[in-house]
Amino acid sequence: MRDINQFTVTKAVKESFKTEPGSRFEQLLHGLIDHLHDFTRENNVTHEECMATLQFLYDCGQISTPERHEFILLSDVLGWSALVDMINTRGGATEGSNLGPFYLDDAPEKPLGADLGDGREGAVVLVHGKVTDSLHNPLPGAIVDTWQADSSGTYPIQEQQQGQDKYDLRGKFRTDEQGRYYYTTVLPKPYTVPYDGPVGQLLRAGNRHAWRAAHLHYIVRHPGMTSITTEIFFENTDYLDNDAVFGVRRSLIAKVGPAKGIDQLGFSLETEPDAMCEFDFVLAPEG
Ligand code: BEZ
Ligand code: FE
Repeated sequence: MRDINQFTVTKAVKESFKTEPGSRFEQLLHGLIDHLHDFTRENNVTHEECMATLQFLYDCGQISTPERHEFILLSDVLGWSALVDMINTRGGATEGSNLGPFYLDDAPEKPLGADLGDGREGAVVLVHGKVTDSLHNPLPGAIVDTWQADSSGTYPIQEQQQGQDKYDLRGKFRTDEQGRYYYTTVLPKPYTVPYDGPVGQLLRAGNRHAWRAAHLHYIVRHPGMTSITTEIFFENTDYLDNDAVFGVRRSLIAKVGPAKGIDQLGFSLETEPDAMCEFDFVLAPEG
């Protein structure tokens, strides 16, 4: 250890951890140390740069609260969340995308055909489709858990002080015997991720904006299948090519068209829609 230098320090640090040989923890820890040390050597990182980075991480911690997790936002804008979603998408299944900070796991179950929009401003859209396995077999009894922003780009949970109910614009639907889900809602608008903190400074330093393309969030579950967390985006809307958190995938962009031929679908709807949007979810088997 005494003859340590900039090349031998990496091995010394790895060996200082008495990890279980061959364990996943050891693999990740050693990989992190290797990459961090290589990065530092390759870039000749200075004391000032090291301290600025640590101060940035400290500031992320300082602004974080149970409702605001600045490190998740950091992961999002660096595309780390997106990369983890991408490499964990199961072959043949719907691609994964951002969970975001506004999920509530105890949203109420609602009957198929319910209206989440509840008379809010904005175009009423019928959102419908099937949940299937990768061989297109319908999955009856799947849970389609959804949440979204309103037509001004705000999640009701963000406006509880203004009297909004945090459970508005969200709900869980159970697919019917044909694996179908359907409900009406208002079309959401784009909104910005929080940019009044250290992550916002990073975006500004890189001449980046904070806008997300408009989207609907989903977690879709079925016993025996791997759940998916994903988002649906809408064709011809803003920020599809420069979403602040890299959430958009071609396969997740849906068309929104006029509400035509709805009667043939045989849905019983609480509210008459102006438009419709179809999207099928595909789940891979568990394991
Ligand atoms: C969202 O989709 O709601 C979201 C995602 C990442 C950061 C902030 C918000
Ligand atoms: Fe969102």
